[in-house]
Amino acid sequence: MKIIVTGGTGYIGSHTVVELQQDGLEVVILDNLVNSNIEVLDGIEGITGIRPAFEKIDLTDRPATLDFFARHRDAKAVIHFAALKAVGESVAKPLEYYYNNLNALMNVLSGMRQYGVHNLVFSSSCTVYGQADVLPVTEQTPRHEAESPYGNTKVMSEDIIRDLMKVQSEMNSIALRYFNPIGAHPSALIGELPVGIPNNLIPYLTQTAAGIREQLSVFGDDYNTPDGSPLRDYIDVVDLAKAHVVAIHRLLEGRNKKNYEYFNIGTGHALSVLEIIQAFERATGVKVNYKIVGRRAGDIEKVWADTTFANNELGWSAKVPIEETLANAWRWQQRLGK
Ligand code: NAD
Ligand code: UD1
Repeated sequence: MKIIVTGGTGYIGSHTVVELQQDGLEVVILDNLVNSNIEVLDGIEGITGIRPAFEKIDLTDRPATLDFFARHRDAKAVIHFAALKAVGESVAKPLEYYYNNLNALMNVLSGMRQYGVHNLVFSSSCTVYGQADVLPVTEQTPRHEAESPYGNTKVMSEDIIRDLMKVQSEMNSIALRYFNPIGAHPSALIGELPVGIPNNLIPYLTQTAAGIREQLSVFGDDYNTPDGSPLRDYIDVVDLAKAHVVAIHRLLEGRNKKNYEYFNIGTGHALSVLEIIQAFERATGVKVNYKIVGRRAGDIEKVWADTTFANNELGWSAKVPIEETLANAWRWQQRLGK
Protein backbone atom coordinates (compact mmCIF):
# COMPACT_ATOMS: atom_id res chain seq x y z
CA MET A 1 0.00 0.00 0.00
CA LYS A 2 1.60 3.24 -1.18
CA ILE A 3 1.86 6.34 1.04
CA ILE A 4 3.09 9.72 -0.24
CA VAL A 5 5.32 11.52 2.27
CA THR A 6 6.00 15.17 1.48
CA GLY A 7 9.00 16.54 3.38
CA GLY A 8 10.08 12.92 3.87
CA THR A 9 13.81 13.68 3.88
CA GLY A 10 13.32 16.16 6.74
CA TYR A 11 13.73 15.53 10.45
CA ILE A 12 10.31 14.17 11.43
CA GLY A 13 9.53 12.92 7.92
CA SER A 14 12.59 10.65 7.76
CA HIS A 15 11.79 9.04 11.12
CA THR A 16 8.21 8.52 9.96
CA VAL A 17 9.32 6.93 6.69
CA VAL A 18 11.30 4.40 8.76
CA GLU A 19 8.24 3.51 10.84
CA LEU A 20 5.98 3.30 7.77
CA GLN A 21 8.40 0.95 6.00
CA GLN A 22 8.83 -1.15 9.12
CA ASP A 23 5.04 -1.41 9.17
CA GLY A 24 5.11 -2.87 5.64
CA LEU A 25 3.88 0.25 3.84
CA GLU A 26 5.44 1.44 0.57
CA VAL A 27 6.67 5.03 0.64
CA VAL A 28 7.28 7.63 -2.02
CA ILE A 29 8.98 10.77 -0.76
CA LEU A 30 8.49 14.16 -2.36
CA ASP A 31 10.85 16.93 -1.19
CA ASN A 32 12.66 19.89 -2.75
CA LEU A 33 15.61 19.47 -0.33
CA VAL A 34 15.39 23.12 0.75
CA ASN A 35 16.03 22.04 4.35
CA SER A 36 17.23 18.46 4.04
CA ASN A 37 19.84 16.30 2.46
CA ILE A 38 19.48 13.45 -0.05
CA GLU A 39 21.90 11.32 2.04
CA VAL A 40 19.07 10.85 4.52
CA LEU A 41 17.91 8.11 2.13
CA ASP A 42 21.07 6.14 3.00
CA GLY A 43 20.18 6.36 6.70
CA ILE A 44 16.61 5.19 6.05
CA GLU A 45 17.89 2.31 3.92
CA GLY A 46 20.49 1.46 6.58
CA ILE A 47 17.76 1.06 9.20
CA THR A 48 15.02 -0.62 7.18
CA GLY A 49 16.89 -2.28 4.32
CA ILE A 50 14.58 -0.48 1.90
CA ARG A 51 15.45 2.62 -0.09
CA PRO A 52 12.26 4.66 -0.42
CA ALA A 53 11.32 6.11 -3.80
CA PHE A 54 12.24 9.81 -3.95
CA GLU A 55 11.27 12.69 -6.23
CA LYS A 56 12.76 16.16 -6.01
CA ILE A 57 9.79 18.47 -6.55
CA ASP A 58 8.91 21.89 -5.18
CA LEU A 59 5.31 21.74 -3.95
CA THR A 60 4.80 25.40 -4.82
CA ASP A 61 5.22 24.31 -8.46
CA ARG A 62 1.58 23.46 -9.14
CA PRO A 63 1.97 21.72 -12.55
CA ALA A 64 4.83 19.57 -11.19
CA THR A 65 2.81 18.70 -8.06
CA LEU A 66 -0.29 17.76 -10.06
CA ASP A 67 1.83 15.69 -12.44
CA PHE A 68 3.29 13.88 -9.40
CA PHE A 69 -0.21 13.04 -8.14
CA ALA A 70 -1.27 11.91 -11.61
CA ARG A 71 1.61 9.41 -11.58
CA HIS A 72 0.92 8.30 -8.00
CA ARG A 73 -2.88 8.16 -8.07
CA ASP A 74 -2.61 4.60 -6.71
CA ALA A 75 -1.38 6.02 -3.37
CA LYS A 76 -3.79 5.54 -0.49
CA ALA A 77 -2.74 8.47 1.68
CA VAL A 78 -0.50 11.51 2.03
CA ILE A 79 1.47 12.62 5.06
CA HIS A 80 2.19 16.30 4.50
CA PHE A 81 5.31 17.39 6.42
CA ALA A 82 6.78 19.78 3.86
CA ALA A 83 6.93 23.31 5.23
CA LEU A 84 9.38 25.98 6.27
CA LYS A 85 9.56 25.91 10.08
CA ALA A 86 11.97 28.48 11.53
CA VAL A 87 9.91 30.74 13.78
CA GLY A 88 12.38 33.67 13.84
CA GLU A 89 13.00 33.55 10.09
CA SER A 90 9.24 33.62 9.50
CA VAL A 91 9.03 36.95 11.36
CA ALA A 92 11.72 38.38 9.07
CA LYS A 93 10.32 36.80 5.89
CA PRO A 94 6.55 36.49 6.34
CA LEU A 95 5.73 36.46 2.64
CA GLU A 96 8.13 33.57 1.93
CA TYR A 97 6.54 31.55 4.75
CA TYR A 98 2.94 32.20 3.73
CA TYR A 99 3.81 31.59 0.07
CA ASN A 100 5.63 28.32 0.67
CA ASN A 101 3.54 26.72 3.39
CA LEU A 102 0.10 27.68 2.10
CA ASN A 103 0.73 27.11 -1.62
CA ALA A 104 2.36 23.75 -0.88
CA LEU A 105 -0.68 22.66 1.14
CA MET A 106 -3.18 23.87 -1.45
CA ASN A 107 -1.32 22.14 -4.28
CA VAL A 108 -1.22 18.90 -2.28
CA LEU A 109 -4.95 19.12 -1.55
CA SER A 110 -5.68 19.89 -5.22
CA GLY A 111 -3.63 16.89 -6.33
CA MET A 112 -5.38 14.65 -3.83
CA ARG A 113 -8.84 15.80 -4.88
CA GLN A 114 -8.12 15.64 -8.60
CA TYR A 115 -6.54 12.17 -8.55
CA GLY A 116 -8.62 10.51 -5.86
CA VAL A 117 -6.03 10.18 -3.08
CA HIS A 118 -8.42 10.64 -0.21
CA ASN A 119 -6.54 10.43 3.10
CA LEU A 120 -4.32 13.12 4.61
CA VAL A 121 -2.27 13.39 7.80
CA PHE A 122 -1.10 16.96 8.38
CA SER A 123 1.78 18.25 10.56
CA SER A 124 0.38 20.89 12.85
CA SER A 125 1.87 22.33 16.02
CA CYS A 126 1.04 23.22 19.61
CA THR A 127 1.95 26.75 18.52
CA VAL A 128 -1.74 27.04 17.52
CA TYR A 129 -2.59 27.26 21.26
CA GLY A 130 -0.14 30.11 22.01
CA GLN A 131 0.03 30.77 25.75
CA ALA A 132 -3.11 28.96 26.86
CA ASP A 133 -4.95 30.20 29.95
CA VAL A 134 -5.55 26.69 31.28
CA LEU A 135 -2.95 23.91 31.25
CA PRO A 136 -2.49 21.24 30.10
CA VAL A 137 -4.10 21.99 26.75
CA THR A 138 -6.80 19.70 25.40
CA GLU A 139 -8.08 19.67 21.84
CA GLN A 140 -10.96 21.83 23.12
CA THR A 141 -8.56 24.56 24.29
CA PRO A 142 -9.22 27.57 22.06
CA ARG A 143 -6.51 28.40 19.55
CA HIS A 144 -4.86 31.76 20.18
CA GLU A 145 -3.81 34.29 17.62
CA ALA A 146 -0.48 33.05 16.29
CA GLU A 147 2.73 34.60 17.64
CA SER A 148 4.57 34.33 14.31
CA PRO A 149 3.86 34.03 10.59
CA TYR A 150 5.07 30.40 10.87
CA GLY A 151 2.52 29.71 13.59
CA ASN A 152 -0.12 31.47 11.55
CA THR A 153 0.55 29.17 8.58
CA LYS A 154 -0.37 26.24 10.88
CA VAL A 155 -3.61 27.92 12.02
CA MET A 156 -4.49 28.82 8.43
CA SER A 157 -3.54 25.37 7.12
CA GLU A 158 -5.80 23.69 9.69
CA ASP A 159 -8.63 25.98 8.58
CA ILE A 160 -8.06 25.28 4.88
CA ILE A 161 -8.18 21.53 5.54
CA ARG A 162 -11.26 21.84 7.78
CA ASP A 163 -13.14 23.88 5.17
CA LEU A 164 -12.26 21.52 2.32
CA MET A 165 -13.29 18.46 4.35
CA LYS A 166 -16.74 20.04 4.87
CA VAL A 167 -17.45 19.82 1.15
CA GLN A 168 -15.37 16.77 0.15
CA SER A 169 -17.11 14.07 2.12
CA GLU A 170 -15.07 11.34 0.39
CA MET A 171 -11.85 12.86 1.80
CA ASN A 172 -10.52 12.34 5.34
CA SER A 173 -7.91 14.22 7.28
CA ILE A 174 -6.15 14.12 10.64
CA ALA A 175 -4.06 17.04 11.90
CA LEU A 176 -1.46 16.10 14.50
CA ARG A 177 -0.48 18.97 16.78
CA TYR A 178 3.10 18.19 17.77
CA PHE A 179 4.51 19.56 21.00
CA ASN A 180 8.35 19.77 21.10
CA PRO A 181 9.85 16.96 18.96
CA ILE A 182 13.40 16.03 20.01
CA GLY A 183 15.90 13.17 19.81
CA ALA A 184 17.03 10.90 17.00
CA HIS A 185 16.67 7.33 15.83
CA PRO A 186 18.46 4.96 18.29
CA SER A 187 20.58 3.66 15.39
CA ALA A 188 22.04 7.19 15.06
CA LEU A 189 21.64 6.77 11.29
CA ILE A 190 19.10 9.61 11.05
CA GLY A 191 18.42 12.65 13.23
CA GLU A 192 17.99 16.40 13.15
CA LEU A 193 20.26 18.38 10.81
CA PRO A 194 20.17 22.00 11.93
CA VAL A 195 21.53 24.50 9.42
CA GLY A 196 23.85 27.11 10.91
CA ILE A 197 23.44 28.17 14.53
CA PRO A 198 20.56 26.18 16.02
CA ASN A 199 17.57 28.06 17.40
CA ASN A 200 16.08 25.10 19.22
CA LEU A 201 17.15 23.90 22.63
CA ILE A 202 18.31 20.33 22.00
CA PRO A 203 20.59 20.88 18.97
CA TYR A 204 22.11 23.88 20.75
CA LEU A 205 22.62 21.80 23.88
CA THR A 206 24.22 18.83 22.08
CA GLN A 207 26.46 21.15 20.04
CA THR A 208 27.58 22.81 23.28
CA ALA A 209 28.28 19.41 24.85
CA ALA A 210 30.30 18.51 21.71
CA GLY A 211 32.35 21.70 22.01
CA ILE A 212 30.98 23.27 18.80
CA ARG A 213 29.30 26.05 20.82
CA GLU A 214 30.94 27.52 23.85
CA GLN A 215 27.94 27.91 26.10
CA LEU A 216 24.22 27.25 26.11
CA SER A 217 22.12 30.28 27.00
CA VAL A 218 19.11 29.47 29.17
CA PHE A 219 16.54 32.05 28.17
CA GLY A 220 15.14 33.22 31.50
CA ASP A 221 14.83 31.90 35.05
CA ASP A 222 12.20 34.38 36.20
CA TYR A 223 9.11 32.67 34.77
CA ASN A 224 6.24 31.57 36.97
CA THR A 225 7.43 27.92 36.97
CA PRO A 226 8.98 25.76 39.73
CA ASP A 227 12.62 26.55 38.81
CA GLY A 228 11.90 29.75 36.86
CA SER A 229 12.78 28.35 33.41
CA PRO A 230 10.03 27.70 30.81
CA LEU A 231 8.08 24.44 30.65
CA ARG A 232 7.54 22.38 27.49
CA ASP A 233 6.31 18.93 26.51
CA TYR A 234 9.31 17.24 24.83
CA ILE A 235 8.23 14.33 22.63
CA ASP A 236 10.65 11.70 21.29
CA VAL A 237 10.80 11.83 17.48
CA VAL A 238 10.34 8.05 17.12
CA ASP A 239 7.25 8.13 19.37
CA LEU A 240 6.00 11.01 17.22
CA ALA A 241 6.74 9.09 14.01
CA LYS A 242 4.70 6.14 15.32
CA ALA A 243 1.70 8.42 15.88
CA HIS A 244 1.65 8.99 12.11
CA VAL A 245 1.50 5.26 11.38
CA VAL A 246 -1.42 4.95 13.80
CA ALA A 247 -3.17 7.93 12.18
CA ILE A 248 -2.68 6.43 8.71
CA HIS A 249 -4.26 3.13 9.80
CA ARG A 250 -7.16 4.98 11.41
CA LEU A 251 -7.86 6.66 8.06
CA LEU A 252 -7.24 3.60 5.86
CA GLU A 253 -9.46 1.43 8.02
CA GLY A 254 -12.20 4.08 8.22
CA ARG A 255 -12.02 4.28 12.02
CA ASN A 256 -12.06 8.08 12.05
CA LYS A 257 -15.22 9.50 13.66
CA LYS A 258 -15.36 12.64 11.49
CA ASN A 259 -13.63 13.44 8.23
CA TYR A 260 -11.52 16.10 9.94
CA GLU A 261 -9.98 15.31 13.32
CA TYR A 262 -7.07 16.78 15.27
CA PHE A 263 -4.99 15.40 18.12
CA ASN A 264 -2.40 16.61 20.62
CA ILE A 265 0.79 14.62 20.20
CA GLY A 266 2.93 15.04 23.30
CA THR A 267 3.90 13.11 26.42
CA GLY A 268 1.50 14.88 28.77
CA HIS A 269 4.48 15.86 30.98
CA ALA A 270 6.14 19.24 31.35
CA LEU A 271 9.89 19.67 31.74
CA SER A 272 11.79 22.89 32.33
CA VAL A 273 14.92 23.92 30.43
CA LEU A 274 16.99 23.32 33.57
CA GLU A 275 15.44 19.87 34.05
CA ILE A 276 16.37 19.01 30.44
CA ILE A 277 19.99 19.99 31.08
CA GLN A 278 20.04 17.84 34.24
CA ALA A 279 18.45 14.88 32.43
CA PHE A 280 21.01 15.20 29.62
CA GLU A 281 23.90 15.19 32.09
CA ARG A 282 22.41 12.14 33.87
CA ALA A 283 21.85 10.29 30.60
CA THR A 284 25.25 10.95 29.04
CA GLY A 285 27.62 11.78 31.90
CA VAL A 286 28.59 14.91 29.92
CA LYS A 287 28.48 18.30 31.66
CA VAL A 288 26.79 21.15 29.82
CA ASN A 289 28.31 24.61 30.06
CA TYR A 290 25.34 26.95 30.41
CA LYS A 291 24.43 30.34 31.75
CA ILE A 292 21.15 32.01 32.54
CA VAL A 293 20.46 34.98 30.30
CA GLY A 294 17.40 37.15 29.67
CA ARG A 295 14.15 35.89 28.23
CA ARG A 296 13.92 35.26 24.47
CA ALA A 297 11.41 37.54 22.73
CA GLY A 298 8.21 35.73 21.78
CA ASP A 299 8.77 32.74 24.12
CA ILE A 300 5.79 31.47 26.01
CA GLU A 301 6.08 30.53 29.68
CA LYS A 302 4.61 27.05 29.65
CA VAL A 303 2.72 24.62 27.49
CA TRP A 304 2.12 20.91 27.73
CA ALA A 305 -0.42 18.51 26.35
CA ASP A 306 -3.39 16.73 27.77
CA THR A 307 -3.00 13.58 25.67
CA THR A 308 -6.12 11.75 26.91
CA PHE A 309 -7.91 12.11 23.58
CA ALA A 310 -4.93 10.83 21.54
CA ASN A 311 -4.30 8.01 24.03
CA ASN A 312 -7.92 6.84 24.03
CA GLU A 313 -8.96 7.48 20.43
CA LEU A 314 -5.72 6.61 18.64
CA GLY A 315 -4.56 4.00 21.13
CA TRP A 316 -1.18 5.72 20.96
CA SER A 317 1.00 7.04 23.74
CA ALA A 318 4.56 8.30 24.11
CA LYS A 319 6.85 5.59 25.48
CA VAL A 320 10.51 6.62 25.31
CA PRO A 321 11.91 7.95 28.63
CA ILE A 322 13.49 11.42 28.42
CA GLU A 323 16.98 10.15 29.33
CA GLU A 324 16.87 7.69 26.42
CA THR A 325 15.70 10.43 24.05
CA LEU A 326 18.55 12.71 25.14
CA ALA A 327 21.09 9.87 24.91
CA ASN A 328 19.91 9.27 21.32
CA ALA A 329 20.25 12.99 20.53
CA TRP A 330 23.80 12.85 21.92
CA ARG A 331 24.71 9.72 19.93
CA TRP A 332 23.47 11.45 16.78
CA GLN A 333 25.48 14.58 17.60
CA GLN A 334 28.61 12.46 18.12
CA ARG A 335 28.03 10.81 14.75
CA LEU A 336 27.73 14.23 13.08
CA GLY A 337 30.98 15.20 14.79
CA LYS A 338 32.18 18.77 14.82
P1 NAD B 1 12.29 19.81 8.28
O1 NAD B 1 12.66 21.16 7.79
O2 NAD B 1 13.37 18.91 8.76
O3 NAD B 1 11.44 19.02 7.17
C1 NAD B 1 10.59 19.69 6.27
C2 NAD B 1 10.92 19.20 4.86
O4 NAD B 1 10.06 19.87 3.94
C3 NAD B 1 12.35 19.51 4.44
O5 NAD B 1 12.97 18.31 4.01
C4 NAD B 1 12.20 20.52 3.31
O6 NAD B 1 13.22 20.37 2.34
C5 NAD B 1 10.81 20.19 2.78
N1 NAD B 1 10.12 21.31 2.11
C6 NAD B 1 9.87 22.55 2.59
N2 NAD B 1 9.21 23.28 1.66
C7 NAD B 1 9.02 22.47 0.58
C8 NAD B 1 8.40 22.64 -0.68
N3 NAD B 1 7.89 23.81 -1.07
N4 NAD B 1 8.38 21.59 -1.52
C9 NAD B 1 8.92 20.39 -1.19
N5 NAD B 1 9.52 20.18 0.00
C10 NAD B 1 9.58 21.21 0.87
O7 NAD B 1 11.18 20.02 9.43
P2 NAD B 1 10.61 18.99 10.50
O8 NAD B 1 11.08 19.39 11.83
O9 NAD B 1 10.78 17.61 10.03
O10 NAD B 1 9.07 19.38 10.43
C11 NAD B 1 8.13 18.66 9.64
C12 NAD B 1 6.76 19.31 9.78
O11 NAD B 1 6.40 19.31 11.16
C13 NAD B 1 6.69 20.76 9.34
O12 NAD B 1 5.44 20.99 8.74
C14 NAD B 1 6.81 21.52 10.64
O13 NAD B 1 6.22 22.79 10.55
C15 NAD B 1 6.04 20.61 11.58
N6 NAD B 1 6.39 20.79 12.99
C16 NAD B 1 7.69 20.68 13.38
C17 NAD B 1 8.04 20.86 14.72
C18 NAD B 1 9.47 20.78 15.18
O14 NAD B 1 9.77 21.24 16.27
N7 NAD B 1 10.38 20.18 14.42
C19 NAD B 1 7.04 21.14 15.65
C20 NAD B 1 5.70 21.23 15.22
C21 NAD B 1 5.39 21.04 13.88
C1 UD1 C 1 9.31 26.77 18.96
C2 UD1 C 1 7.94 27.10 18.43
C3 UD1 C 1 7.28 25.89 17.84
C4 UD1 C 1 8.17 25.27 16.82
C5 UD1 C 1 9.51 24.91 17.48
C6 UD1 C 1 10.45 24.31 16.49
C7 UD1 C 1 6.75 28.87 19.59
C8 UD1 C 1 5.87 29.22 20.74
N1 UD1 C 1 7.10 27.60 19.49
O1 UD1 C 1 9.13 25.99 20.12
O2 UD1 C 1 6.07 26.24 17.21
O3 UD1 C 1 7.55 24.10 16.33
O4 UD1 C 1 10.09 26.11 18.01
O5 UD1 C 1 10.95 25.25 15.61
O6 UD1 C 1 7.13 29.69 18.80
N2 UD1 C 1 15.82 27.60 24.97
C9 UD1 C 1 16.91 28.04 25.70
N3 UD1 C 1 18.10 28.20 25.05
C10 UD1 C 1 18.25 27.96 23.72
C11 UD1 C 1 17.13 27.51 22.97
C12 UD1 C 1 15.92 27.35 23.63
O7 UD1 C 1 16.81 28.28 26.90
O8 UD1 C 1 19.36 28.17 23.17
C13 UD1 C 1 14.54 27.38 25.66
C14 UD1 C 1 13.38 28.21 25.14
O9 UD1 C 1 13.28 29.42 25.89
C15 UD1 C 1 12.18 27.29 25.41
C16 UD1 C 1 12.77 25.88 25.32
O10 UD1 C 1 14.18 26.03 25.44
O11 UD1 C 1 11.72 27.48 26.70
C17 UD1 C 1 12.47 25.21 24.00
O12 UD1 C 1 12.82 26.08 22.94
P1 UD1 C 1 12.80 25.63 21.41
O13 UD1 C 1 13.49 24.34 21.25
O14 UD1 C 1 13.28 26.78 20.60
O15 UD1 C 1 11.25 25.34 21.12
P2 UD1 C 1 9.97 26.26 21.42
O16 UD1 C 1 10.35 27.68 21.52
O17 UD1 C 1 9.21 25.65 22.53
